[in-house]
Amino acid sequence: MKASAKSVGLAIIGGGRVGLFRGEVAARHPAVGWIGLAEKNPNRAGEVAPRINAEFVTQDHRELLRRPEVTAAIICTDEHLHVDPIMAGVEAGVPMLIEKPLATDLAQSARVLRAIEAAGIDAVVGYTQRFRRRWLAAKEKCRTGALGDITLVTSRAFMNRLVAIDNYKRTDDPASISPLVISGTHALDICMWCLEGKTPVECYARSIDKVLGPRYGGIDATAGMITFSDGTVYHLNISWALPVTWPGAVYSLDVGIVGTTGVLTIDDTHRDIVLAVGKPQQEGYNPDASRLVDFMGSYPPGDMALGELRGPMAEETNSWLSRVSLGLPSPAATVAEAHRNLMLTKALDLSAKRREPVRLPLDADQTLT
Ligand SMILES: NC(=O)c1ccc[n+]([C@@H]2O[C@H](COP(=O)([O-])OP(=O)(O)OC[C@H]3O[C@@H](n4cnc5c(N)ncnc54)[C@H](O)[C@@H]3O)[C@@H](O)[C@H]2O)c1
Repeated sequence: MKASAKSVGLAIIGGGRVGLFRGEVAARHPAVGWIGLAEKNPNRAGEVAPRINAEFVTQDHRELLRRPEVTAAIICTDEHLHVDPIMAGVEAGVPMLIEKPLATDLAQSARVLRAIEAAGIDAVVGYTQRFRRRWLAAKEKCRTGALGDITLVTSRAFMNRLVAIDNYKRTDDPASISPLVISGTHALDICMWCLEGKTPVECYARSIDKVLGPRYGGIDATAGMITFSDGTVYHLNISWALPVTWPGAVYSLDVGIVGTTGVLTIDDTHRDIVLAVGKPQQEGYNPDASRLVDFMGSYPPGDMALGELRGPMAEETNSWLSRVSLGLPSPAATVAEAHRNLMLTKALDLSAKRREPVRLPLDADQTLT
């Protein structure tokens, strides 16, 4: 006989773009019996709560997590505001789906990892792209040895600068925001997933800041290399300073994976569906009125169609809810993988800053020097 689903009482902390997407998906999931929302901004909470059928709304995530109905939590606050809600979730002892990055500070990320592991909590991190069929298929070919022993991975990530501008405007500490930490972490997660089992030992990188530096104190682009204990090389770059008219809503990615007996190339630039319009479309990430050409499918969470989000963030949310309610396995990134991803992106940023190679793993206190 099949196990029946445990009813989920879901706390959603942070009712921004992602909180709304995930909340709407959860509201339709058959195992979700109750939803509560914590959102600091009351206007936003008033807008989001009815759309996700929230039965309880507060500005205080601790008050929400104290509710007896709560059995699981989604943490989707701004990038630099994950730590306190995660620690409150650990105290409440509930399984969590946490947005990436785990934290923006390496010491905080290590603290969160230790707390979750010590409490034995089932927490995963929202590296949404893993739920796309193309990356699952790539993972399977790498995992089953179709390429032989992987020797070289390359990834090229091109991003519209709208994401960078939005991130730098929202922070008073631009040094904690970098293209690798905030966005490059997605491509890195996919490639490191394909390289599972290999140990990174050193990295080297260079950055440039001609566009975002003068105005925001930010970084435009970083190019780097990670080497592994067996000599494998991962060569990666990201620019999030492409003009706002660039047709990619967020990501355009190109990945190559070379092994001793095979090769896999993945064109994830989204140039296969191109929309050109006379009037701006209010879709995607902070749409800009001058962007009249769109690589459809380049908004990472997915696309709205027939009133619902379609795509990887919907699949990821449903998969996590099945994990929580039925105990089914899911390919979500673990908290340890998310911490490793932050460590690698911080090490690459440090290498670019120091203009010298950095040994891995990077300790939290090294990021300050
Ligand atoms: N997995 C993906 O593909 C993907 C895509 C986009 C964004 N993200 C991540 O999701 C997270 C949220 O991004 P977003 O675009 O939704 O941001 P957003 O700014 O739209 O939403 C964040 C919301 O959290 C609220 N908030 C902050 N701290 C809070 C607290 N302690 N309690 C209650 N509410 C709080 C803010 O008021 C805001 O409304 C970020 O970490 C981002 O990197 C992931």
